[in-house]
Amino acid sequence: MPCTVVVGGFFGDEGKGKMISYLVVKDQVDVAARGGVGTNAGHSVTWKGRTYRMRMIPSAFTNPNTQLLIGPGVLVDPTVLLREIEEVGAAHRTRCDPYCAIIEPEHIREDQESAHLKGKIGTTGTGCGPCNADRVRRAVRTASEVPALKDYLIDVPTRVNEVLAEGGTVLLEGTQGTFLSLYHGTYPYVTSKDVTASSICADVGVGPTRVGTVLIVFKAYVTRVGAGPLEGELSEHEADMRGWTERGTVTGRKRRAAPFNFDLAKRAVMLNGATCAAITKLDVVFPECRGATDFGSLSSDAIDFVRRVENKTGIPVHLIGTGPAVEEVVDRRNGSG
Ligand code: GTP
Ligand code: IMP
Ligand code: MG
Repeated sequence: MPCTVVVGGFFGDEGKGKMISYLVVKDQVDVAARGGVGTNAGHSVTWKGRTYRMRMIPSAFTNPNTQLLIGPGVLVDPTVLLREIEEVGAAHRTRCDPYCAIIEPEHIREDQESAHLKGKIGTTGTGCGPCNADRVRRAVRTASEVPALKDYLIDVPTRVNEVLAEGGTVLLEGTQGTFLSLYHGTYPYVTSKDVTASSICADVGVGPTRVGTVLIVFKAYVTRVGAGPLEGELSEHEADMRGWTERGTVTGRKRRAAPFNFDLAKRAVMLNGATCAAITKLDVVFPECRGATDFGSLSSDAIDFVRRVENKTGIPVHLIGTGPAVEEVVDRRNGSG
């Protein structure tokens, strides 16, 4: 079936943005629609020698023929959206749903000043939690009420389902990660809604019978920003020694790191009904694999690791990231390896 959903398998920042940008360059994707929470996401996409850090527009912008949509479940910060549209020159092909809820300056202020949210939970401070709380109270503005967004509105569920009915291809972009889900994550250290595959579909307005592929993205190790449990967490020194130290795309905070967690991966596959997986940053754990695009050229340790992930999770690893650039991917979808 021509509808694919991409989700994060750990705590966000698995490299979904990079994998999505690869998929749309490689495949013909008519429409990419973003689900997930809102501007708390930060996708890094390294494309044609430049690194883009996007929080609102779909990472699929790397294919100039792909329409870029934002589903009604997503929170929109108009300033961020308009800036990103301008940055990638995608005004003609970026649209959001009139029912998207609007993040107001007061939401951002509350998120950044609240001892509970910013202090205890360690939120991104982007206003998403307070905005979703107001949305549940039915007290937010929607995109249809923002004059600056007037030219960018379309009925996203109708558009996406029309493309599917005509035999076109659709990619639904999830954000965050399974264990940041409000329902399935490490509550209270979670984001402000569910972010598993079912919710990403609901965010865009696609029913479960329309989805053929659920691609779950894992990193070759686990990272987490903000507070909350992280099994096997390494000391900062150890993470630095291994080259696993990262900084958050949105907040610049250091990401905590731990080795790949097979039990979490297995549970994430279950919660998302994942049909296949991607593993990013294989080159960070196995530096000899840097830049590889062919499964056979990976080291035997790296191949063993990939096979262990497959055995433990019960799904095939279709894509492997071997560097930050869009094209640094081993693509096993045609059965190689
Ligand atoms: P959220 O939506 O915020 O969860 O983010 P994300 O899943 O899109 O990931 P993010 O871009 O925040 O973090 C992933 C980081 O890993 C980025 O800096 C990417 O450039 C980088 N990256 C992704 N894949 C690879 C890879 O295969 N190898 C290397 N070396 N870097 C990678
Ligand atoms: P919030 O979503 O900003 O309310 O933050 C709640 C928790 O989710 C915090 O631990 C954040 O660090 C984490 N979080 C939210 N979005 C992302 C993301 O895109 N990547 C990684 N962590 C995130
Ligand atoms: Mg991120």
